[in-house]
Amino acid sequence: MARTQVAIIGAGPSGLLLSQLLHLQGIDNVVLERQSREHVAGRIRAGVLEQGSVDVLLQAQVGERLLNERLVHDGFALGFAGRSFRVDLKGLTGEAVSVYGQTEITKDLTEARIAAGAKLFFDARDVAIGGIDTAHPTVRYAHGGRTQELSCDFIAGCDGYHGVCRRSVPAQAMQSFERIYPFGWLGIMADVPPVSQELIYSNHERGFALCSMRSARRSRYYLQCGLDEPLEAWPDARFWDELRRRLPPQVGETLITGASIEKSIAPLRSFVVEPMKFGRLFLLGDAAHIVPPTGAKGLNLAAADARMLHQALAHYYRTGSTESIDRYSELCLRRVWKAVRFSWWFTTLTHKFSEDPFSHRLQLAELDYLTGSRAALTSMAENYVGLPFGEPPLARSR
Ligand code: FAD
Ligand code: PHB
Repeated sequence: MARTQVAIIGAGPSGLLLSQLLHLQGIDNVVLERQSREHVAGRIRAGVLEQGSVDVLLQAQVGERLLNERLVHDGFALGFAGRSFRVDLKGLTGEAVSVYGQTEITKDLTEARIAAGAKLFFDARDVAIGGIDTAHPTVRYAHGGRTQELSCDFIAGCDGYHGVCRRSVPAQAMQSFERIYPFGWLGIMADVPPVSQELIYSNHERGFALCSMRSARRSRYYLQCGLDEPLEAWPDARFWDELRRRLPPQVGETLITGASIEKSIAPLRSFVVEPMKFGRLFLLGDAAHIVPPTGAKGLNLAAADARMLHQALAHYYRTGSTESIDRYSELCLRRVWKAVRFSWWFTTLTHKFSEDPFSHRLQLAELDYLTGSRAALTSMAENYVGLPFGEPPLARSR
């Protein structure tokens, strides 16, 4: 049976980043991914990185193209009541965010891992994990038409919300918390210049809209949509028409449209499992928690988990002490719940939940208050740029 120190299930951002960080610490690992390399590389998802995520990608030595090609955004706009208000992230917090696609991060990490001779297996089917409550966990999988077995010290479940790892834990050992939202996001990518240099989150009585981008020539736009709406109901012309209507008029007028190169619908949910560790299995990223994309937190939380776990495992292999790995779940969850709260709050502030005009008036009142209060804006901006890692500063000074 083959052996490694850490078996990583899933080659999304959390699995690849963990693999690279462990490798740089001299910790042997194997990554097993169900899909093909092309499939993983083609999945269009997140676009906004906190500075903390940029820092960990630099630490992982995959930041060169990121630093050259990212767009640094010092602020974003809130659209509501026919107007647009700029949230000055830099002025309020001293920090900015970076726009750089998840597809590019996955590509940079995959190339770095392969260049370093990683044991990274795409098309690994029927992954099954065992012995997670013993000192010698095992992983069984099919690859190249053969069944393979791997023994390891630890398993990192980086296999997303639908993965196999979380489902391998006895139900009574973990508690899950979930909220499903009654709508989804319809997203398109198009090779047209963005309508604005910064992102626009727009509250509108017809529903939420988001204007984002990948570069000066590539735009990413989203519309709140019904969960049961088929993609075919949204030809490009209808999408552009609806987007224009949901933006402040002076913005909508300048929208440049074109043929979409990708179009998809994603459901929105909040989900957390506690604890994020069972025996020798650790859960990371979407396998442990999901947030609605409104706060741009999912990928950033995945990067934070990889950062935390690689530090804990490095400490364990250096000293033999389990103190850090024992605290992994507790330290991650403190930050996770704050991101869950922020993403839920930003979603409820900007999306249409019902036809009830009272609810919309309350949203407008809150947006009016928020944009008129430096204290409220600072709180929002602090959460958007990303909360600090580890113990909160106030807890430290006590
Ligand atoms: P995933 O990316 O889901 O990777 C899991 C991997 O595991 C996949 O490659 C999967 O194929 C593999 N896998 C699954 N099951 C198995 C198995 N049984 N065996 C082997 N492999 C398996 N986040 C942000 O921070 N900012 C944003 O702006 C943002 N925007 C978003 C927009 C949209 C429309 C969506 C849908 C998400 C967005 N997110 C955003 C969230 C972000 O994309 C995710 O949080 C992120 O992909 C999580 O990474 P992960 O590695 O944990 O999981
Ligand atoms: C994106 O560009 O895909 C994006 C940006 C900000 C979000 C969500 C998604 O909040």
